[in-house]
Amino acid sequence: MKIEVSGKGGCGKSTLSVLLARSMKKLGYRVLLVDGDESNIGLENMAGIKEPVHLLDYLGGKKEFKAMLNQTMMAGNPAGLFSGKQTIDDLPRECIASADDGLEMLVIGKIHHIGEGCACPMGVLSKKFLSSLETGEKEVVLVDAEAGVEHFGRGIVGECDLILGVIDPTAESFQLAQKMTDMAVKADKKICFVLNKVEPAIESVMKQKLGSATVIGAIPKDHSIFMESLEGRKLTKTLPEADEICRKILTDHGSDRL
Ligand SMILES: Nc1ncnc2c1ncn2[C@@H]1O[C@H](COP(=O)(O)OP(=O)(O)OP(=O)(O)O)[C@@H](O)[C@H]1O
Ligand SMILES: [Mg+2]
Repeated sequence: MKIEVSGKGGCGKSTLSVLLARSMKKLGYRVLLVDGDESNIGLENMAGIKEPVHLLDYLGGKKEFKAMLNQTMMAGNPAGLFSGKQTIDDLPRECIASADDGLEMLVIGKIHHIGEGCACPMGVLSKKFLSSLETGEKEVVLVDAEAGVEHFGRGIVGECDLILGVIDPTAESFQLAQKMTDMAVKADKKICFVLNKVEPAIESVMKQKLGSATVIGAIPKDHSIFMESLEGRKLTKTLPEADEICRKILTDHGSDRL
């Protein structure tokens, strides 16, 4: 199963990705956490994983990859490298780093230089990578997306089985939830939401603002999560709420409830 974790900037996508990845691991799944954010750099710290070789760098860097894209595009198959099907075990070993708990991580690629050009090659690489990657019954690929909806526009979400929207208590999050839902429905993609940074007094207000959207859980606003992020430490918090969300995703996947 491939899940894209989406939402507005700072809503908690990376935090949720790590919390859910750990919970899924505990439930006996093999989990590949994919850093699909070409700008932000904090995921490996949060996951406590030493950064692997980025997939884009493994392929020779952005310039080389762009040249390859142009060549393969002419042949009608952008980035032909990922044209066949592959499993997690087929991926280049250098590009996968593991945490002590067995959680695995892959980074698509990052922007490094002023004036290096747009991030479209990373978008194409993400899309091709996800479309070619096949997951087994007990495998989950969790993609921590960049902020906003660029990965919707690029069609990356189309390669995932489920879009998981993270909603923090801001008006922008609720507006974005509506937009994400509209786009997902049009593309016939499953979408559900998790509330984040929730305080008891506002949980019902948040749910109400989301209207008929499917909300599968709520993560409380938590001081230790915030402090670990502030200090750039590994996220150590485990939450029963995250376990419950994972159970829902893993058991309801394939049903109409998500
Ligand atoms: N449940 C929570 N309780 C307290 N703080 C939280 C919670 N979830 C996230 N945060 C804090 O919110 C901030 C943003 O979190 P995070 O980096 O996970 O968001 P993001 O959506 O990945 O951001 P970006 O769009 O920049 O990638 C961090 O300081 C993080 O510690
Ligand atoms: Mg992030």
